[in-house]
Amino acid sequence: MGGVRFSVIVVAGLVFLAPASPAAALDGAALAAENCAGCHDFSGPAPATFQGVLERRAPDLFYAGSKFNRPWLVEWLQAPTLIRRAGVMFLNNIVNEDGRDRIREASVMPCPAKLGAGEAEAVADYLMTLEDPAMAVGVVDPERDFKARKALRMFTKQLPCIGCHRIRFRKKEMGGISGPDLANAGARLNPDWIYARIENPQYWDPKTWMPRIEMSHRKREMLALFLAAMK
Ligand code: HEC
Ligand code: HEC
Repeated sequence: MGGVRFSVIVVAGLVFLAPASPAAALDGAALAAENCAGCHDFSGPAPATFQGVLERRAPDLFYAGSKFNRPWLVEWLQAPTLIRRAGVMFLNNIVNEDGRDRIREASVMPCPAKLGAGEAEAVADYLMTLEDPAMAVGVVDPERDFKARKALRMFTKQLPCIGCHRIRFRKKEMGGISGPDLANAGARLNPDWIYARIENPQYWDPKTWMPRIEMSHRKREMLALFLAAMK
């Protein structure tokens, strides 16, 4: 009897220990293929038609390694918060109430991923390999000084950015919701990618409703620094 008891305890012990195995043993690509690829596109290209944009269930991740800061990914994948208050495509989530457009809150969904710490590390490692080889790197130095008031004026008055994006300035939040919330853009996004996304939105997403606006390198750099400082 004693022998049988012992082996049961050993088996139970192994089952208990299995999830605590080192992150290196987890295959991030396999985890993503199994748990995430039903909603997210890991191979591209982005939709080339408006129909494709309307049907996209979740943001494209095939250039995640160029877009995100790894520490943000690791933390967020364990407890996602809402980034797009009107959903991935705002037109899918609008209802008309008393002659006014409103967001149907029930149809706006945060990412359902709730990974364990080891899984989040492994999936983040995989996502960071998905780089866009054509993106210029080392363009924006986030340590560089910039004029915050001037950048705020550009973002809110001279250019239409604030109409679609929320930002935080001196603890005050403001802005529209048809684009992603940028109030913690600096924690989430790689500064070079912020620059590249402003320079040519349609390169990343041919049918996006974010306009491509001609401006000097200095102005685009200032916008990127302004957003990269928002954490
Ligand atoms: C049922 C569909 C669904 C599944 C499954 C899903 N996601 Fe998401 N994910 C979303 C949606 C919707 C958003 C946008 C949420 C927002 O903007 O707040 C999102 C956002 C994200 C983002 C941020 C993207 C960005 O550009 O802001 C990452 C990273 C992400 N998901 C990773 C994952 C990973 C990794 C998995 C698998 C472990 C996963 N998701 C599973 C629907 C899904
Ligand atoms: C008409 C609406 C609109 C305007 C105006 C607009 N954007 Fe966007 N922006 C978007 C949309 C839509 C996305 C990407 C949507 C997605 O990933 O789900 C985006 C993405 C971004 C991103 C990447 C954010 C992320 O989390 O994926 C940055 C940075 C950005 N915009 C900055 C700007 C700046 C700076 C301006 C002004 C020069 C601007 N936007 C003007 C709609 C807009």
